[in-house]
Amino acid sequence: MSSRTVEADRYTNENGSQQPFYDVRRSYEENYNEGPFGAFSQISASAVSDDSSVDTPYNFLGQQLRTPFGIPAGPLLNSAFTDAAFRMGFDICVYKTVRSRAWECNPFPNVLAVHPKSANGFLEAGSTESEEGVLADDHYERPISISNSFGVPSRDPDIWQPDMQKAIAHAGTGQLLIGSFQGSRLSGMDTKAYIQDHVDTAALLLETGAKVIEMNTSCPNEGKNKLLCDDPILVGQICEAVKNNIGDVPLIVKLAFIPDNRALNRLIEATVAHRVVQGLATINTISAKLVDAQGNQALPGEGRERSGVCGNAIRPSGLDMVTRLNDIRSQQHLDFSIVGVGGVLDARDFAQYRQAGADVVMSATGAMWDPNLAKSVSRSLRE
Ligand SMILES: Cc1cc2nc3c(=O)[nH]c(=O)nc-3n(C[C@H](O)[C@H](O)[C@H](O)COP(=O)(O)O)c2cc1C
Repeated sequence: MSSRTVEADRYTNENGSQQPFYDVRRSYEENYNEGPFGAFSQISASAVSDDSSVDTPYNFLGQQLRTPFGIPAGPLLNSAFTDAAFRMGFDICVYKTVRSRAWECNPFPNVLAVHPKSANGFLEAGSTESEEGVLADDHYERPISISNSFGVPSRDPDIWQPDMQKAIAHAGTGQLLIGSFQGSRLSGMDTKAYIQDHVDTAALLLETGAKVIEMNTSCPNEGKNKLLCDDPILVGQICEAVKNNIGDVPLIVKLAFIPDNRALNRLIEATVAHRVVQGLATINTISAKLVDAQGNQALPGEGRERSGVCGNAIRPSGLDMVTRLNDIRSQQHLDFSIVGVGGVLDARDFAQYRQAGADVVMSATGAMWDPNLAKSVSRSLRE
C-alpha cells in the first residue's frame, strides 16, 4: 500500500506504523507542551541506567560514553524529549538551540517531506534542482528527506535554564547532554554587542552545569539565507571571546556544508587550529528552493521560498564534509573532535560516518522516524 495514498500509512517504517517523536502535523508549541510522541512517549523512566558498572568505552571531549551516537540540535525541544531519547539509548543528546532571549517560531508548517528527483533521492548543494525547485509536500516516505523551517525559536532563559539543568541530571551512566546556543542579531546591534550576546548565552548555558556546549553558526542567523559560518573571521572572534569565558568546558562549532576547501581551511584556522574550539559538528541542512506539485512556493509566507533540507538527501554531502575535515585534521596534525551529522537512517550509515573519520555520529531526521535507531546502532557495535 502506498504511503502517498493512505493517510494512516504515512508514517509507516520498517518497524510498523510510527508517529515521529516530533510530530510534524502539530505546531511547534503543541510539540513543546505535549511531546514527545510515538514510541518516545511510551518509554518508562526505569530504562535509563545509573549503573556505574556499565561499559563506557568511547571518550568524547573528556566524557566516557556507552555508544558514540545521538541526536543533534533540533528535534529534542526540552527535557521531556531528551529524557525519552536517553531512555531509548541515544547516548548523546543535544538540547535544541537556545538564545539569550525568547524568540518566536516561524509559522506552521515547519516541516515538509522533500522528494529530490534522483533515483537515490540525494540533493547536492547549489545543484540545478536545489535552485529551481524541489518537490515538497506532506507525503512522508522512506528513505525520509524533509525540510525544516523553524527560525530557531527559544524560550526565555528563565524557562530553558532550569529545564536544561533537569535534562543534564537525567542523563544515565555513559550519556551526555550537550547544550546548543546561538547569538541573536537584533536590528541596530553592532559587532561588539553581537559577540557579547554569544558570550552571555554561553555563560547562561554553563550555569546549568552543561559539560559540553555547541555554538550554532549554520542556521540563517546573519539575516535571510546568510550563515555565520560563511564569515570565518567573525566566527573566530566570537569563539575566542566565548572560550575566554568558559574555561575548560569544550566548545563545539556547528557548521553547514562548505564545498570549498579554502573556505573550510580558513574556518579551521580561526577555530580548532587556534585552540578556541575543541570540536566541529557538521553538517546542518542544505538550502533549497521548495515547490509544490504545481511549482508554487511550498512553505507559506515571505522569506520562505528556500528552506533547509535534511535526512537521506544530504548524506553524501555530510560524508564528504567529514572526510575532508578528517583529511585536514591528519595532514595538519590537529587535535579536535568531529561530530558527523546528515542523513543517518540506519546502522550502515552510522558505520560509514565512523569510517569517514567522525568521532561521534548523530541523526535528527532518521531518529525522528525510527525511535529504535540507537538500539540498531548499539547492536551493530557489538556484532
Ligand atoms: C526538526 C529539526 C530542527 C532542527 N533545529 C536545529 C537547531 O535548532 N539547531 C541546529 O544547530 N540544527 C538544527 N537542526 C539541524 C540538525 O541538527 C541536523 O544538522 C540536520 O537536520 C541534518 O541531520 P539529519 O539529516 O540527521 O536530519 C534541526 C533539524 C531538524 C530535523
